[in-house]
Amino acid sequence: MIDSSEPEIPLFGGDVTEGIVRVGDTVRRPVKRNAAFVHALLQHLEAVGFDGAPRYLGVDAAGREVLTFIEGELAGRPHPAWIGDEDRLASIGRLLRRYDDATVGFVAPAEAAFVPPLHPEGLPPAPELPEEVIAHLDITPENLIFRDGTAHALIDFDLARPGARVDELYNAMLWWAPLNDPGDLDPGLRGLDAPRRCRILADAYGMSEADRLRLVEVAFMRTRRSWHLMKHHAEVEGGGWRRMWDEGVGDVITRREAWLERNGSAVEAALTAA
Ligand SMILES: Nc1ncnc2c1ncn2[C@@H]1O[C@H](COP(=O)(O)OP(=O)(O)OP(=O)(O)O)[C@@H](O)[C@H]1O
Ligand SMILES: [Mg+2]
Repeated sequence: MIDSSEPEIPLFGGDVTEGIVRVGDTVRRPVKRNAAFVHALLQHLEAVGFDGAPRYLGVDAAGREVLTFIEGELAGRPHPAWIGDEDRLASIGRLLRRYDDATVGFVAPAEAAFVPPLHPEGLPPAPELPEEVIAHLDITPENLIFRDGTAHALIDFDLARPGARVDELYNAMLWWAPLNDPGDLDPGLRGLDAPRRCRILADAYGMSEADRLRLVEVAFMRTRRSWHLMKHHAEVEGGGWRRMWDEGVGDVITRREAWLERNGSAVEAALTAA
């Protein structure tokens, strides 16, 4: 039901979007850039029978997008004790593979075409990669819903765009291995064997040999780029981006790059070991 008299219950968890509420069994979110593309994508996922994403139900009287609310557990902060569980990790790899495969062949209608963001000056280059899937690219603990101990659904498709499988896997590894300086991790994610966890994700996804070999280089390039992009978003869009920048996300990214310098070869060895 799009227009409803049921109460609005605020939802928290993400960093950027304000004003997300639950109404009955729906979620209402302010529409974003590329909303038409995301709505077409969600409709495609429904049409091909992929059940691991919210359904797009339309726009309500307040101009917000209406999505189905998906019941389950989130791993958002404070992280639950099971966040480092390796069986759950493998289930993320499997869900992500099913999702990416479900997007193959999706072409948005002309009026809903993906509009690439404008690039700030001085942005380091992106890796040259094929557009194989519609990558989700925001596989954070806050954006995954678990049921019965396995990853059940992805939410928050704001960053989805045509992209490469290796970028999708890098993003999942970034959050779930995770690929960050231990000092920047929440307690539940500290002390995990990140290279081993990258391998678990890669195997569960069925990552190609070529992608395993280029993962670390992609990680470096994406890390350098993300520092510039976060700064740019903070300056131009403000809001949650500004807050994250002021809280030091730029330094977190710089320490991530140093962590990759120290640990990249171990990650690559784990990904490619027989
Ligand atoms: N369809 C849904 N089903 C269940 N819970 C949802 C759904 N959509 C959002 N939520 C809840 O609301 C929180 C925030 O929603 P969402 O991830 O869409 O926005 P956000 O993370 O704030 O956005 P952004 O990533 O742009 O900052 C989620 O972490 C989750 O707890
Ligand atoms: Mg989110």
